[in-house]
Amino acid sequence: MNVSYYITKDYENKSNWTLGKRGKNKAKQSQSVVSLSILFQTQLTLCEFFLFFTFIGPGYNLAMQSWTIQKLLNWITEHFTKKGIDSPRLSAEILLSCVLAMKRIELYTQFDKAIDKQQLDRLHELVERAGRNEPVAYLTGKTEFYSLQLDVTPDCMIPRPETELLVERAIEFLRTRTGKQFVCDLCTGCGCIAVAIAKNFNNADIIATDISEAALNIAAKNIEKHQLADRIKLLCGDLFDAFVPQLDIVKLVPDSDRGFDLIVCNPPYVSAAEFEKLDKNIKDYEPKLALFAGADGLDVHRRIIEKVDAFLKPDAALMLEIGFTQGHAIKEMLEQVGSFAEIKIEKDKNKNDRIATAKKTSS
Ligand SMILES: C[S@@+](CC[C@H](N)C(=O)[O-])C[C@H]1O[C@@H](n2cnc3c(N)ncnc32)[C@H](O)[C@@H]1O
Repeated sequence: MNVSYYITKDYENKSNWTLGKRGKNKAKQSQSVVSLSILFQTQLTLCEFFLFFTFIGPGYNLAMQSWTIQKLLNWITEHFTKKGIDSPRLSAEILLSCVLAMKRIELYTQFDKAIDKQQLDRLHELVERAGRNEPVAYLTGKTEFYSLQLDVTPDCMIPRPETELLVERAIEFLRTRTGKQFVCDLCTGCGCIAVAIAKNFNNADIIATDISEAALNIAAKNIEKHQLADRIKLLCGDLFDAFVPQLDIVKLVPDSDRGFDLIVCNPPYVSAAEFEKLDKNIKDYEPKLALFAGADGLDVHRRIIEKVDAFLKPDAALMLEIGFTQGHAIKEMLEQVGSFAEIKIEKDKNKNDRIATAKKTSS
């Protein structure tokens, strides 16, 4: 039996979760009795039976039956589990804490707190949309990356935890160096990499670029939110075309005339075949421009690696996020440049190729 389907359908009719109001209406009461008998004809679990009576049963109304945080968390988690939504408990916590304007931890310290009807209505809308695979981060407009809270909208890709490894390597590299460092974050999206580096390494000025103006608007908000506007500049354009060598870089970052100390980039790298198989919550909602990179998924990497040498100082580093099948091909491309001394492909914690790092020779 699909209780969630039943709730959704009923909600569509009533635009309300508080179906107890039906109890006052005879015609609707008999409708509930028919629905109940249908429910009994199916294999009703105890839990579903409970949910029926608390959430959608004919006698339910908010005055008699208050929805507490605990009940909602359990119900939404079960609903998302049935719908096959990723991390159902976490998604339930995020949506609930967004609607109640509480921290996730506070949900657990106020388990018995009752939720008012306005909050229930808002929550219901979000739960329904999440149930149709809309990413929770887009629903709340927020995500966490490298322990920083960032704004996101469907104009930018949602930062992935795997990308934190790229940030970690970038910060480690910068800490080995002396003096002010000039960093470029190509394909910045919501600005997550640039913001995380700037927050964790003070002596760096960063230029972050993207071809999408809409994504850069989100990046600008995140830079503002973390008070980094004096250290991160945004440029719009196709990869290195975003800045003209010896012109924009020098203007934006004085003393950077010999190029950057570090270029980091998480470019699009999904191949044509992979794109077709992407989960609905990615394929239908995240910008294709942020994901797709030609037949083999290497179009953008190829273009970066072809041109990058001119933009790096001697001893500088290039760090790229890569797809799990791309390590070998990327290593070959980097070797062909001829000016990189150390080229490494690193796996993420799931043992997938994830990061390519290359250090330019000193001369
Ligand atoms: C995989 S997303 C990465 C976003 C962000 N850096 C992150 O790690 O979450 C790739 C980004 O590259 C941008 N992009 C795609 N093609 C580009 C190009 N030719 N030049 C510059 N940016 C590009 C997209 O708009 C998108 O924001």
